[in-house]
Order: sequence, then C-alpha cells, then structure tokens
Amino acid sequence: MSSSSSSAERLSQIAGHLNFPNGLLQGQVAIITGSGQGIGAETARLFANEGAKVVVSDIDAKKAKDVAESINGNGGRALDVPGDMLDSNYIDELVKRAAEFGNGKIHIIVNNAGYTWDGVIHKTTDKQWDTIIALHNTAPFKLVRAAAPFFRVKDNEPRCIINISSTSGLHGNAGQSNYAVAKAGIQGLTKTIAKEWGPVFGVRSNTVAFGHILTRLTAAKEEGAFVTTPDGEKVALGIPKAQGDSKAKAGFEDIPLRRPGSATEAARAILAVASPLFSYVSGQTISVTGGRNI
Ligand SMILES: NC(=O)c1ccc[n+]([C@@H]2O[C@H](COP(=O)([O-])OP(=O)(O)OC[C@H]3O[C@@H](n4cnc5c(N)ncnc54)[C@H](O)[C@@H]3O)[C@@H](O)[C@H]2O)c1
Repeated sequence: MSSSSSSAERLSQIAGHLNFPNGLLQGQVAIITGSGQGIGAETARLFANEGAKVVVSDIDAKKAKDVAESINGNGGRALDVPGDMLDSNYIDELVKRAAEFGNGKIHIIVNNAGYTWDGVIHKTTDKQWDTIIALHNTAPFKLVRAAAPFFRVKDNEPRCIINISSTSGLHGNAGQSNYAVAKAGIQGLTKTIAKEWGPVFGVRSNTVAFGHILTRLTAAKEEGAFVTTPDGEKVALGIPKAQGDSKAKAGFEDIPLRRPGSATEAARAILAVASPLFSYVSGQTISVTGGRNI
C-alpha cells in the first residue's frame, strides 16, 4: 500500500482544494474487472481511497479476496466477487452483487481484465483468436449490456465506463494480431456507449490505452506466470527475458520518458478519467505511455 497511499494522499489534497473533501469518487460504486492484481488492483485501492465502494472482480478468487480484505482493513469499502469474464452467468452475477453492494446503484465500470496470447499471424490458432476477442471485446460488451439498467438512469449522479486498451491496439504489434484487433475494437464500444448513453443519461465513456506498464504481463516469461483457459489450457504470460533485457539495455529509447510505467501510475490515469476533473471528457482514447508512439 505504501506507494499508492502516498499518491492517494496527494490526490486527496488536490480533491480537498477542488471541493471534494470526501474524495473524488465519494459515494460512487465501481466494478473493476481483473482487479486481483496489477493495474486493476492498484485502481481498486486508489478508487477506495477516494471514497468509492469497489467491487473487486477477478478469475483468481484468492487474489480478489486479498485485495478486498486489504482495502477493507485500511478503512475503505470493497467486495470481492470472483469469477470468469468469459462466463456470461458470472457477468450477470457480478452486476447483481455490485448493485446489492451499492444499494441499487452502480456508477463506474472499468473493463480491465485481460491477458495476451501471442502468435504470429500464420501460426495463430482459431482458439487463440477467439479467446482474446471474447475476453477483450465480447466480455466488456456483455458487462456493459448487463449493467445498462444502472447506467440508463436520471438521478443526477455521475456515470462512467472506462475500457482498457493498449498501444498494440492503437498501432498494431507484431505477434499480437488477436490482441491488436481486440484492443482497437474496444474503442468502438467506448465511442458507441458515449453516443448512446451520453445524450439523455450523461454517461461518459472513455478508453485508456497503456504502453509498457510493469505487471506480470510485461515481466520475464521465464518467471512462469500463466493463465488457464476455460477448457484448461495453460497460456504463458510475459515477454521473453532476452527481449525485455534488450529494451532496458537500450534505455527504453522508444519511450520519451525513457522508462516503463508502474501499475500505480497506470491506475492514477484511470482514476483521473473516472474523476469529476474529467467531467467533460467522453468518447476519447487517452494514451498512458510515457509518450511512446507520438
Ligand atoms: N501491463 C501492460 O504493459 C499493459 C499494456 C497495455 C494494456 N494492458 C492491459 O491492462 C489490463 C490489465 O493488465 P495487467 O498488466 O494489470 O495484467 P495482470 O495480469 O497483472 O492483471 C490482469 C488481471 O485480470 C485477471 N483476468 C484475466 N483473465 C480473466 C478472466 N477471464 N476473468 C476475470 N479476470 C481475469 C487476471 O487474473 C489478473 O488478475 C489488461 O486489459 C491488459 O491487456 C496492460
């Protein structure tokens, strides 16, 4: 909690100056998918520090429970609802339990759960393709659709959807045709939500696209992290150590800030977009990349 606490303290000071004495997200209820670790877990902590009630959703039940317990133990409010975003029944349950936790209200969804399953085009299988599109496009769509009754409301309270994308989606990336298509496609969902639910209901919808953020997705593949597909296949996560080392050795020359970002920095950007400071920003893709690809 130490680095996120200090950043949360600074953000709270800003919130106080701007007349949000109880936090930027006071009284709001947020579902954050994939918040058992990495960027999602940091987002859950920062949101809770800003007064939100946070629903911690992750396929890894133990990690989701730990995150929720840590938030509740630090004076925040969180509920873990574990499950697989590739399971439609789970998505319905997630919305139901979030609405119960929020006394009938849900204000924010962060569609963050995901992983990469890389392959060059001529070797990518149908299963690799279908799984990544299902996880990064179909699942966020189903979650937003299931939560529609809680967003298509007129109660003068803020509502916001944030979909997580990647520089791979904005610019393409060799070896990631499935992920690049999915992360490009999610921007279409973002913009459609902005156009359908902005006019009458005031719902904001934005995409946050990350570059190189330090999580297990960008750690050395040799560390052995993996996810398991619904039919039990193990998918190795990370990038080959040699590839990561050569980027570091070259001083991250493709990134103007010359370093990767931390999960806390990534989460701060999500908080910024969710906050009232972004109340007139909708339908946009915000790149959080240290300047990469400009
Ligand atoms: N790390 C980066 O450099 C980077 C860059 C661009 C985009 N992203 C995106 O950011 C998001 C978060 O990634 P991260 O780096 O924090 O990774 P991470 O692996 O640390 O966290 C992702 C979480 O999602 C969960 N998850 C995966 N599949 C799931 C499923 N089917 N149902 C429910 N939960 C599931 C995992 O259990 C994990 O806890 C992802 O959408 C990723 O594509 C990350």
